[in-house]
Amino acid sequence: MSSLSRRGFLRSTAAGALVAPAVPAFVRLQAPVAVSSANGIKAVELAVQRMSEGWRPVDAAVAGVELVENDPEDDSVGIGGLPNEDGIVELDACVMDGPSGLGGAVAALQNVKNPAQVALQVMRHTDHVLLVGEGALRFARAHGFKEENLLTEKSRQKWIEWREKRSAIDDWISPEENGEHGKEWFRKYKHKTGTIHLGAVAANGDVGSCTTTSGLAFKLAGRVGDSPLLGCGNYCDNDVGTGGGTGRGEACILANGGAFIVHQMALGKSPTDACMEAVKRVVRLTKVKRLLDAKGRPDFQIQFYATNKAGQFGAAALYADKFAVCDGNGARLADMASLYAEPVK
Ligand code: GLY
Repeated sequence: MSSLSRRGFLRSTAAGALVAPAVPAFVRLQAPVAVSSANGIKAVELAVQRMSEGWRPVDAAVAGVELVENDPEDDSVGIGGLPNEDGIVELDACVMDGPSGLGGAVAALQNVKNPAQVALQVMRHTDHVLLVGEGALRFARAHGFKEENLLTEKSRQKWIEWREKRSAIDDWISPEENGEHGKEWFRKYKHKTGTIHLGAVAANGDVGSCTTTSGLAFKLAGRVGDSPLLGCGNYCDNDVGTGGGTGRGEACILANGGAFIVHQMALGKSPTDACMEAVKRVVRLTKVKRLLDAKGRPDFQIQFYATNKAGQFGAAALYADKFAVCDGNGARLADMASLYAEPVK
């Protein structure tokens, strides 16, 4: 973690009540900092490089995640993302810019592989925050984004496998169902999630953030997760820092993960502690039995990430996991704090 102290980070009113932290008169980090989900090791490196060249944190964050959106081997984001239950790839993303306090987002966007870039244009070229579906596609078209089929052969094969194995009471069957495994219920893709969130802090303490995803694999058409919802999968406040999440989007929405993390930091928590508070909030809010394992723990993974404007960073998850970070010591993977010691089942 950064050696910079966050002492003096909070101020209180004359009555003693906590309010939004004051912007420190002068913040100068040794180097910009970027934190992301574990699939973003190259993304954090590029984001830090761009911020060192003077880019705004939000632009640097989008440049970083674009590497992952363009990678057909990452089946959780952009091209090659796993499709919805109809076999159609629908992408979600949002961006937030600390200095201006503005945000932009797109949800259920088809045929454009860089939804984070489209979200950036929504922020810069409209008076709105969130565009969805056909409207988002028309907006992207108007801004010259290329349309292409985002379903790679590999993702199509995974979709067919899921479609055939998801139910024993419909007419889709897999070759295995004709064999010795009979009507076995395959859980392989039941909770498959993946996403990239990237929080960025420039050397002067300005922050920006971005989250982009193809969402929950084989979701219902039109399902929108936490990633394009500001305050859920992504949030930042230039007086405080950034917060975001990956994993089960429904849980992050219900816990307002991103905004909750930033609020916890405004109240004085370190980034790691703020993320762990969000994890505990998810546990407290997860009540229905179908979402719990035999030990009564959430039967899914959720990961939270945070940075503050002093350059400190942290991450926490329900189950053991890694995250990516880049600072003055270069890009690397690190262990997240986790509520439960083992990896997710
Ligand atoms: N966290 C990504 C999603 O659930 O869509």
